[in-house]
Parts: sequence; C-alpha cells; structure tokens
Amino acid sequence: MKTTIRLKLVLSILPVLVASFAVAGVSSILLSRAGMIRLAMRNLAFKAETLKQYGEAQWGLVVAQGFDGDPEFVEAARASFARHAESLLREDSETFVALDLDGTLRLYAGQGVAPQEAPVALKALMREGLTGAVRFEGAHGERFGQAFYFAPFGWYVVASDLASSIFAETQRISVALVAALGASVAVAFVMLLVLSRSIARPIAKLAASMGSIVETNDFSACVEPESGDEVGLLTLRFGELCREIDRSYRRIGEIATREVEARVEIVERDIEALLALGKVSEYRDEETSNHTLRVGLYADAVGARFYPDEEERRVLVYAAPMHDLGKIGVPDSILLKPAKLTGEEFERMKLHTVIGHAILKEFRSPFLVKAAEISLSHHERWDGKGYPNGLSGEAIPLSGRILAVLDVFDALVSERPYKRAWPLEKAFEHIGSERGTHFDPAVVDAFMDARERIVRILEANQK
Ligand SMILES: [Fe+2]
Ligand SMILES: [Fe+2]
Repeated sequence: MKTTIRLKLVLSILPVLVASFAVAGVSSILLSRAGMIRLAMRNLAFKAETLKQYGEAQWGLVVAQGFDGDPEFVEAARASFARHAESLLREDSETFVALDLDGTLRLYAGQGVAPQEAPVALKALMREGLTGAVRFEGAHGERFGQAFYFAPFGWYVVASDLASSIFAETQRISVALVAALGASVAVAFVMLLVLSRSIARPIAKLAASMGSIVETNDFSACVEPESGDEVGLLTLRFGELCREIDRSYRRIGEIATREVEARVEIVERDIEALLALGKVSEYRDEETSNHTLRVGLYADAVGARFYPDEEERRVLVYAAPMHDLGKIGVPDSILLKPAKLTGEEFERMKLHTVIGHAILKEFRSPFLVKAAEISLSHHERWDGKGYPNGLSGEAIPLSGRILAVLDVFDALVSERPYKRAWPLEKAFEHIGSERGTHFDPAVVDAFMDARERIVRILEANQK
C-alpha cells in the first residue's frame, strides 16, 4: 500500500488521541468508583453507629429498671433493636444482619425473605473479630459494610450494601464516558481526514500538473496556488518556473525556426548559383536549351535506385547540370565548328572533362565536389575505352556512370546543328545496345525501368 501524507497523519495522531481519551476515561471511572465507595461507607458507618447508640440506650433503660435478667424484656429489647435497624434502611439493597458468637443468624433487616443462615464470608469475618469497614461475598454478590460488636446481646452486627448498587451510578458514567470517547475519536478522525486532505490535495494537484507538463510539454497545465501556506508558495514558485521555461522554449523555438529558414535560404541561393553555372556551360556549347536541366531531372529518376538517401540524391541532381562546365575552356573554333573535328581538335575537345574538374575541385560545397567528380568521369566507358583516364567498370565513379547514360540519351533525342533528333524508340534501343560496353549494365537497367518518367521529363522540358 502506498503511504500517503494523509495516512501518515492519521496513523501518527489518531493513536495518541485514542490513548489520551482512554487514560482520561479509565482514571475518571476509577476515581468515581473510589468516591462512591467512600460515600457508601460513610453512610453505612452512620447507620451502624446510629443503631449501636439506639441499642445501647434501650439496653441502658432495661438495665436501669433491673430487667436485664428477664428474658421477656431482653427479647423486647432485641425486637426494638431489629425494628430500629429496619427503619434505618433506605435502599432495597441495604441490609442489617446480626450473628451471635456461634455464627447463628439472629437478625435480618432488608428486602425479601430472611435467609436461613448468614453468609459464610460474614461468619469468617466475625470469627476474625473484624469491625469497622468490611467487604465480603453475600448471597447476591459482593457487599461493602460496617461491622460492630454489640456486647449486650453478644451480637456481631453488620450494616452493608451491594457493590453493584453502590457502583450503579459509576456504571452509567462509564457507559457515557465510552460513548463520549467513541464520539470524540470519530470526530477527531473526520477532522484529521479533512485536515490531511487540505494539506495533501494541493500537493497532489501540483504533482499531477508536473506529470502532465512532462508528458505533454504544455506549460499552460501549470496550477495556481490555492492558499498562502508553504504548499501555496511552492505552487507559486513552480508556476513562475513553468512560465520562465515556457518563455525560454518559445525563444529557442523562434531561434531554431529562424535558423532553419536561414539555412533553407542559403541552400536555395546555392542552388541558384549551381543552376547558373549549369546555364553557363549550356550557353557556351549552344546545345539545345534545357539540356542541363533535363539531365538533372533524369538523374533524380535514375539515381533513386543507387542513392536511397534523399540528400545524396539531391547532391547528384544539382551537380549533374555542370557536367560540361569545362567546355568554357575549349576555343569557339572547336566548340562551335559545324563540321567534323580533326583528330587534334577532338583531343582538345576531350579536355573539357579535365578543365571542368580543375575548376570545380577547389570548392568544398558537396554539390561542387560531386560536380568535379562527374565532370572528370562522364565520358569514361564501362569497357575502358572512354576518356580522359580510360577507367573501366566500377573504377569509374557511380555518378560518372549514371551521367554517361543520361548525357548520351539526351544528346540523341535532341536536335543539333549537325543532326536531327532521334526518335525515342531508337534512342532507347541504342542505350540498350550499349549495355555492358559503353554503359554500366546496372545503370542501363535502372534507366530502362525509369523510361516512362524519363519520357515525361523530356516532353515537359523540351524547350
Ligand atoms: Fe561532356
Ligand atoms: Fe552534355
């Protein structure tokens, strides 16, 4: 079971309360019992003394008249003694009994029929010669009494009352006390619950608020203080902390958003610059417009198989248009020559790969690094018969192998000063026929698989 503040409060205070009430109750009952015994004894002593004096006065008269030897007078004196004893009784439970020295019951004054014999305990008291306050077991229970020896009759006389009668009042007090104790404990328990709830509830609310904030990051879930006590102060400070963190979060969020926007802006500017570089090579070459744009878009379609990472593919797409940038280093007389190039001119023309690489390799932008790689390798052939380095197979960078297919395909389907545009079917056939010779078979496969998309790109970006 989880130990809560409420439980701790109740468990620590309630036993103390119950114990205090119990001690107070029990000592009150004991004190009242002692008081009742004292009162009863005083009352019984008074009656015993009254009877004794009465008996002595009566016997004094008998003796004065010289009748103490006359059994009739003696009997009359005893009867008068008994009547007086009767007259002294006030409670049903009170009795006077007298025993002679052999234990025979000689007098019984009290409610009900006189018993045949005196109680055994009383006979024992008499034999011990105890007078004054006595306590013994009677026929109907324990009795408290006052005993005296009445010499003229040779009687041991005891005035007594039942303990249960004496304590009847204290029993009623005990019941009332137990009831009061129970009620007090119940009221104390309820008040403790109310008090502990008033302490624990704001703490529980604060804890719930903290939990909710942790889960949802929503700082508006912060609670307001309900009181001016320590818990209220804690709640107030927590609220201030929440608002401060919320403000910081917002500031950080704004800064992060601005930074992302700034980065996007930078990348967009970079890309614009890259596209401008692509255009530069296109203008020098007098190739059909949009050749560089289309090559970039084809690279996106075909590169998906080889560059599953979107960022890497993006680099390829924006680097691809710069594959012929090196043509700016080829003289117009060669580049724009309407006739077939001589062997020497063609060798010069081939240098556009190396020139492009030399221009681009100095830069750190991933786009330019990739463009340098493409520039150098896009005229290499899978069978090793390409230029400038005669690399073969996978020694040629993947970007160069991809661009080789895309560049040749786009040149075939475009119109040039010295040739007409090839029909699509024928161009695709040519690419397929060079699978494994001019081109990387895997790239050709990816190109063929992307045929529909390639055609759509071509049609949408013709001029
Ligand atoms: Fe080229
Ligand atoms: Fe090209």
